[in-house]
Amino acid sequence: MGSGPSNPEPRVLRAMAQPPLAADDPALTDVVSETVELIRATYVAPAGIAFPVPGASRAGLEAVMSSLVGPGDRVLVGAFGHFGNLLVTLAERAGAEVDRVDAEWGSIVDPDSLTRAVRRRRPKLVAIVHADTSTGILQPLDGLGDVCREVGALLMVDAVLSLGGAAIDVDRLGVDAAVGGLQKCLGGPPGMAPIALSDRAWAGRRQGRPVVASLDLERLEALWCGERSEDDEVPVAMLYGLREALHMIQAEGLTARWERHLRAGEALAAGVEAMGLDLVGDRSHKAPMIALVSVPEGVSEPGVRDQLLSDHGVEIMAAFGPLRGRVWRIGTMGFNARLDAVLTVLGALEAVLASRGARVAFGEAVAAARTVWASRLRSVDSGPRPA
Ligand SMILES: Cc1ncc(COP(=O)(O)O)c(C=O)c1O
Repeated sequence: MGSGPSNPEPRVLRAMAQPPLAADDPALTDVVSETVELIRATYVAPAGIAFPVPGASRAGLEAVMSSLVGPGDRVLVGAFGHFGNLLVTLAERAGAEVDRVDAEWGSIVDPDSLTRAVRRRRPKLVAIVHADTSTGILQPLDGLGDVCREVGALLMVDAVLSLGGAAIDVDRLGVDAAVGGLQKCLGGPPGMAPIALSDRAWAGRRQGRPVVASLDLERLEALWCGERSEDDEVPVAMLYGLREALHMIQAEGLTARWERHLRAGEALAAGVEAMGLDLVGDRSHKAPMIALVSVPEGVSEPGVRDQLLSDHGVEIMAAFGPLRGRVWRIGTMGFNARLDAVLTVLGALEAVLASRGARVAFGEAVAAARTVWASRLRSVDSGPRPA
C-alpha cells in the first residue's frame, strides 16, 4: 500500500510463469501484436506508435527523451515534485537546454504560467508529469496539447502513476509521447514501460544515433513492430505480464477502472481525516491513487512504518525531498484499489498510532471509509474536483 510497486494482480503473476518463447518464434508475433493493441487501447491512442520499453519506467522516459531531443534543442519542463526533476535531469543528460516552470510541492503547476512559458520559449518539447508520486498531485492537462501545437512543440507526459488509474487519453489531450509503468495502477511488477507516440513525435524524433544505444527508440520500434531475429532479446515473462494486466483493464473497462481508483482513494482519504490526521497538498488536485498523510507531532515516521509492516504485514512509504520524515505515502493502486485493502491499512494505522500513544479518533476511520465507498462518486475527469 505504498507509492509503488504495489501488489501485482495474482493473474498477472500467473501469466508471467508461462514458458518463454525465442525472439524469432512465430508464436511471439501474436503476443506482441496483441500487447501493442492493448497499449493503444489503454492510452486511448488509435493513431501513432505504441510499444513497451523493457526496464523500469525511467528507461521508458529516457528512451523517449533522448530520442526526441539533444544538443541544440530547447525543452520546457513543468515540475511539481521529484519526478518533474527527473524529467529535467533526463533532458539535460540528453544535451538539451532546459527551462522550467516550478510549483511548490503539493500544488499543480499553474496552467496559465505554463502556457505563457510555452509561448515565450517556443521549445521543441514540453515535458510534464501527470500525477507525481512524490507529492500526490494530479496535474490538469486540458489545453496544454493545443498550446504546444500552436508553437510547434511536442508534448511529453510521464503517466507512470496515472496510467490505468486516471483518465489519460492521449489523443484527446494532444499528448505526443506518453510513458507509463507496469508496477502502479496497471497492477503488475516493475519491468515494463508502455509508451505511446503520436505520428508527429515519431516524425519529429532526432535523426542520427541518440546517446543511448539499447534505449534507442528506433531499435525498440524495430524490435516490437518489425522483423525480429534470433539474436534479439525479448523479455517474454514481462511481456506476458503486461499483456495480462492490460487485458484485465479492458475487461473491467477504462472508466470503471478510473472510478474504482477514485473511489478507493476517496475512501482512504476520508478514513485518514476521520482518524484526525491531515492530508498534505491541494485537496482539489489530489491524485486518486495516492494519499500523502502528515505525520502527527511526536510520532516516529519510520517507527510507524516498521511497526505496520512487522505487526500487520502492511507496507506504506516514506516521502522524498522536503517532505521526508514528515509525511507518509499510502497508495491504492491497481489490485490494491479495493475496499478491503483500504480498511486494512486504516485499521492497522489506527492501531499502530494508538499503541504509540498518538491521539487518534479511535474507531472512526473504517466507518468513514466505508460510507464514502458506498456513496455515489464524483466525475472521474483529470481536471480539478471540488474539495
Ligand atoms: C511519476 C513517476 N515517474 C517516474 C517514476 C520512475 O519509475 P521507475 O522507478 O520504475 O523507474 C516513478 C516511480 O515511482 C513515478 O512515480
